[in-house]
Amino acid sequence: MNTTAKQGKVWLVTGASKGMGLNLTELLLSSGHRVIATSRNAAALEAGITENKKNLYAIALDISSDEDVKAAIDKAIAHFGQIDVVVNNAGYSLVGSLEEMTDAEFRSTMDVNLFGTVNIIRHVLPHLRQQGSGHIINISSNAGYIGFANASSYNAAKFAMVGLTEALAQEVSRFGIKTTVVAPGQFRTEFMNSIQYVQHRIADYGVDEAEKMWSAASGTQPGDPDKLVSILLKISEMEEPPLHLLLGPDNYDLVLQKRKEEAAEFEQWRSFTLSTNFD
Ligand SMILES: NC(=O)c1ccc[n+]([C@@H]2O[C@H](COP(=O)([O-])OP(=O)(O)OC[C@H]3O[C@@H](n4cnc5c(N)ncnc54)[C@H](OP(=O)(O)O)[C@@H]3O)[C@@H](O)[C@H]2O)c1
Repeated sequence: MNTTAKQGKVWLVTGASKGMGLNLTELLLSSGHRVIATSRNAAALEAGITENKKNLYAIALDISSDEDVKAAIDKAIAHFGQIDVVVNNAGYSLVGSLEEMTDAEFRSTMDVNLFGTVNIIRHVLPHLRQQGSGHIINISSNAGYIGFANASSYNAAKFAMVGLTEALAQEVSRFGIKTTVVAPGQFRTEFMNSIQYVQHRIADYGVDEAEKMWSAASGTQPGDPDKLVSILLKISEMEEPPLHLLLGPDNYDLVLQKRKEEAAEFEQWRSFTLSTNFD
């Protein structure tokens, strides 16, 4: 039985113990929605929530395990009977040059930011497709549109989230499933305190200085996460939500500038580009 109209929607939010995931979970519970919230530390997550706890189903989950994700989605469906909106929010950045990153460090960034998202989508889709509705919201980043020095693994994961969301939209819109990829600029969450740094450093790349810079910048980000999550709630109510959504004036300026420079570069090398077909 679909109980959406009476009790609000059922949301699934990953990485909900802090930052945007926690703000979103609190907003949803106070707005009468039901939330399946995942965290590696479900006890900390539950302890942080005070309002409407009966509408919260907290699940301890490492999203990088495909098996565990499947089990968690099965439990969530058994608990609430449906999932309407999925927010793939869990993520972190690894700071360091590509040369310094070990295979394990690079892969771990991809495991959490990218494959965790893929695992969640793969296991919710059978339910959304069957119910003929749903909205998948993937949290990418300004780093999903612009390459930044010392962020190659994070860039690789966040760029991939943009591409996968575009492909997914084309695959699932016919089933009534909506898709949005959100790219925040800098928002004041625990993000900068959660940054991982490469363990083996090469002085030439200046990661020690980068670490000091990011640690000092935490708490000064211009973006208000409460405003961000209220926009997520708004787009979930739209008949036709955006496929791509940039959030934050800092991000808007950066991405538009990047797009201009990219178009100019494509133009500059146009003669090569157009010269490659068989005569
Ligand atoms: N804040 C920004 O400026 C900003 C900008 C662009 C994009 N973003 C993106 O926004 C999303 C939310 O970030 P936030 O700003 O809210 O950061 P946050 O305060 O650090 O929260 C991040 C959440 O992601 C999960 N997470 C972090 N590292 C993880 C790991 N190694 N394995 C599994 N889960 C992990 C955590 O889940 P647990 O509950 O398991 O600890 C945590 O709740 C992320 O995808 C981030 O990349 C943030």
